[in-house]
Amino acid sequence: MKKLSTLILCSILIGCSTSRPSIKSNDSEKVVKAMTTEEKVRTVVGTAKYRPTPPELAPGCTNFENDTESAELLKNSVNTFMTENKVEGAAGDSYVIDELDIPAMVFADGPAGIRINPHRKNDSNSYYATAFPIATLLASTWNTELVERVGENIGNEVLEYGADILLAPGMNIHRNPLTGRNFEYYSEDPHLTGMIASAMINGIQSNGVGVSAKHFAVNNQETFRNGVNAIVSERAFREIYLKGFEIAIKKAQPWTIMSSYNKINGEYASESHKLLTEILRDEWGFQGMVMTDWWGQKDPIAQMQAGNDMLMPGTEKQVVTLIEAVESGKLSQEDLNRNTTRVLDLVKKSPAYRNYPYSNKPDLKAHAQVTREAATEGFVLLENNGALPLNKEIKTIAPFGIATYDIFTGGSGSGYVHKPYKITLKEGLQNNGYNVSEELEQTYLDYIASEKAKMGQESFWYVPIVGEMDVELTSIQKMAQNSDAALITIGRSSGEGSDRKLEGGDYYLSETEMNLIKNVSTEFKKLGKPTILILNIGGVIELTDCKDMADAMMIVWQPGQEAGNSIANVLSGKDTPSGKLPMTFAKRYSDVPSSTNFPWSDGDPSTVKYREDIFVGYRHFTTKNIEPLYEFGYGKSYTTFEYNDLMVNVNEGTVEVSVKITNTGNYSGKEIVQVYVSTPNGEVVKPVEELKAFAKTKLLAPGESETVYLTMKASDFASFVENRSAWVTDAGTYNIKVGASSTDIKLNADIEISDEIVRKVKVMFPQVNLK
Ligand code: BGC
Repeated sequence: MKKLSTLILCSILIGCSTSRPSIKSNDSEKVVKAMTTEEKVRTVVGTAKYRPTPPELAPGCTNFENDTESAELLKNSVNTFMTENKVEGAAGDSYVIDELDIPAMVFADGPAGIRINPHRKNDSNSYYATAFPIATLLASTWNTELVERVGENIGNEVLEYGADILLAPGMNIHRNPLTGRNFEYYSEDPHLTGMIASAMINGIQSNGVGVSAKHFAVNNQETFRNGVNAIVSERAFREIYLKGFEIAIKKAQPWTIMSSYNKINGEYASESHKLLTEILRDEWGFQGMVMTDWWGQKDPIAQMQAGNDMLMPGTEKQVVTLIEAVESGKLSQEDLNRNTTRVLDLVKKSPAYRNYPYSNKPDLKAHAQVTREAATEGFVLLENNGALPLNKEIKTIAPFGIATYDIFTGGSGSGYVHKPYKITLKEGLQNNGYNVSEELEQTYLDYIASEKAKMGQESFWYVPIVGEMDVELTSIQKMAQNSDAALITIGRSSGEGSDRKLEGGDYYLSETEMNLIKNVSTEFKKLGKPTILILNIGGVIELTDCKDMADAMMIVWQPGQEAGNSIANVLSGKDTPSGKLPMTFAKRYSDVPSSTNFPWSDGDPSTVKYREDIFVGYRHFTTKNIEPLYEFGYGKSYTTFEYNDLMVNVNEGTVEVSVKITNTGNYSGKEIVQVYVSTPNGEVVKPVEELKAFAKTKLLAPGESETVYLTMKASDFASFVENRSAWVTDAGTYNIKVGASSTDIKLNADIEISDEIVRKVKVMFPQVNLK
């Protein structure tokens, strides 16, 4: 007995002296202290396993012509980032140290749903994920509650498929309509971006999984994305390109942030101490971890020092470099410890740490219902002469346009989702009881198949896009005889790796598309039958020349896997569209403020000067008095709304606005109320107006009213004054404009922001006059 207790005591003592503190029972700092340099370095570097075959440089990726660095990286990387972790097809994972109970966290894309491989070797189960609407569509809903619900659903799939961090939301500003990844981003406006992103982050993170809000910052193009130097004024940087992130960090505390590939004023974002530490953490109070974008392989030492805690997806070269740097004193142990601690703090929040028993069986049926509803709220009705909703007499529809049969549910690249199915528009119409011409369908299907056979295989970097089919006038005439209405769908897709082109079939309508729209509308009109034009697009296209051809024109964006059902529900009148534009549609590309300096300036492909400064999107159009084709915030409904009883109250540093909205039409519908503020000129030139608040009503029945309440802070009205390096709210008269769009202002009121309030603002909101 005595022998046994001595043995137990010995083993306890030995255990105490040799075992290191587990992360389970100790705080991260203590664990880090007991780690070796190599363990720490491996913790801050991801553990991607490379796929052996290098991808071809995709056809169409010509933007890499001048970008040898990107081209090199691509050749040496993978076209589906695959890790040999528990979630196949996820983008990356983190290092495991069993002895310290540190598990691997799994990082997976992306903004429209989790992107993982749908099939696994020697496994008969499938791992499909729901393809939700693209980010731009979600922003067009202006409905933060709805976006939060979408986020809850996306986050649930992240959790149930065993991942820890979703690499989303994409939050870059739509600086130029040609940016290939705009579909993954929300808007040209930082307030809308920040509010929608906050809702998305809150929804996702409510599942106990994290996000990586990206790409921080000033990542507004794909051309030369690994090295482009964005030259931007401090004011535009703060007010336009950082503001959305600032809002989201303060409102939703994302678990992680992804730094961007590009340089900002000569310094790589991932190496910028000012961006990643002084602004992000010291000013805004970010508590989480920062990771690089994939293969953002700049100087790993500078990245570590800047506060870029983790390098993704990680290479052995980075590990070796960092170990040597610590040994030679180039990188301090303090910096490494700090970054490692942040990674471990993240581990402690993760489902992997909790050993969450993920099911691999999220409720895809329930999520499909949510994606269908969310999509309809983001459709933007641009034109309608009464043709929509479709008259009840309409039974047979002639659907033209390739995208009717091969609809784009989302974009490509890391924003792509492997969905279980997609409902085409033709199927959606049939599900809503319409007959569609089988003859027309067969012609289109044959054409699509034969064109695709001539094109490359779809991949991460490349989506075959079939040019529109010529339809003979006689066929159109025959269809007009035999059907009650025509539908034309124009489709566009883009994605990571290249920007869009200023060409027919992309930014412009092609000649074939124009002819199709013209001929179909004319022939159907002759017989008194309507033509509906559906725009299945990921970003802006030029619509100036076709604006009035059809009887109704609606943007359905890339609406997720239930596409056809969502669209048909709106056409039939089951749902009323209630989306509004999150960006401006210019009459001509040359009206876009960045058109002369995108994707580069002065013939130098490595540099882009943001000469338009803060005058991006509607800030430019309203201030310079240029009439757009469709303004920011614009969108029609099947019904009409009246605005009454505007009340504006200034209470200390808070401005409270209320307005009564009444549905004055014949259909139920929701209205998006927007508050723009004109500020007095102070030390810097102000735009004519800026969006500072918005709200969406509930579904209002005809005749029903709702009073919506909106709150702003006087500090929200501040401009960034460069020579003082300070946010300044000026005292003076502010015009509060309440409207249905950026130019359709219904009611307005002046308020006074007194010197006293400005003084209080400085005390209440310390971000004002920081330095
Ligand atoms: C993209 C990121 C993405 C990452 C992982 C990069 O190419 O820029 O947005 O999250 O890949 O797939």
